[in-house]
Amino acid sequence: MISKATEFARGIFEADSSGHDFDHTLRVYRMAVRIAEEEGADVQTAALAALPHDVDDRKLSPETCDEKSRAVGFLRANGVQEEEICKIVQIISEISFSEGNGRPSTVEGMCVQDADRLDAMGAIGIARTFAFGGSRGRRIHDPDGLDAGSSIQHFYDKLLLLKDRMNTRTGKELARQRDAFLRSYLDEFYAEWDGRK
Ligand code: ADP
Ligand code: NI
Repeated sequence: MISKATEFARGIFEADSSGHDFDHTLRVYRMAVRIAEEEGADVQTAALAALPHDVDDRKLSPETCDEKSRAVGFLRANGVQEEEICKIVQIISEISFSEGNGRPSTVEGMCVQDADRLDAMGAIGIARTFAFGGSRGRRIHDPDGLDAGSSIQHFYDKLLLLKDRMNTRTGKELARQRDAFLRSYLDEFYAEWDGRK
């Protein structure tokens, strides 16, 4: 089932060019499994929610987003029980609501949400931020604050806020390390920008 879900997600992201990528899905899946193991959560449920977590994302697929119908269709077609499908859909809905302060209602949801958030932090988070900014023609930094969409600005709008929004003990510890790296990266960035280094 896990390998089928992996291929399902791969197929969707390969066919799409909206900036979502399958590598993100794979990292979130691996991290969700690791956190679920350490937290004593149901690893299978966390994995089956992590793999399709972005296939019905609003930006990627606005018409299936509300019902998570791509994910549901896949799970049904592969004989996953309705009760389990309900749990998985709930997890996906709750984590993509993550822009607010929504806290998932199950421990498995907390694991997947933490995994998704960790992928926006640390070295990977930095790479994704500049890749996203570049794809939209944004400046890497705007010292005068005129370009609200600079990639460095995104650190303050999102990345640096994530550490305090983690759910699980494991997620918090990993986020603490990734947050420290973000902050030292910014110190280095400004030093080089100003010609101090
Ligand atoms: P997710 O897959 O976690 O739901 P998003 O689709 O919101 O993430 O964003 C994809 C990646 O692009 C993330 O790493 C996010 O931090 C980054 N990103 C989102 N908005 C911006 C922005 N305005 N500037 C730079 N990076 C951004
Ligand atoms: Ni995601």
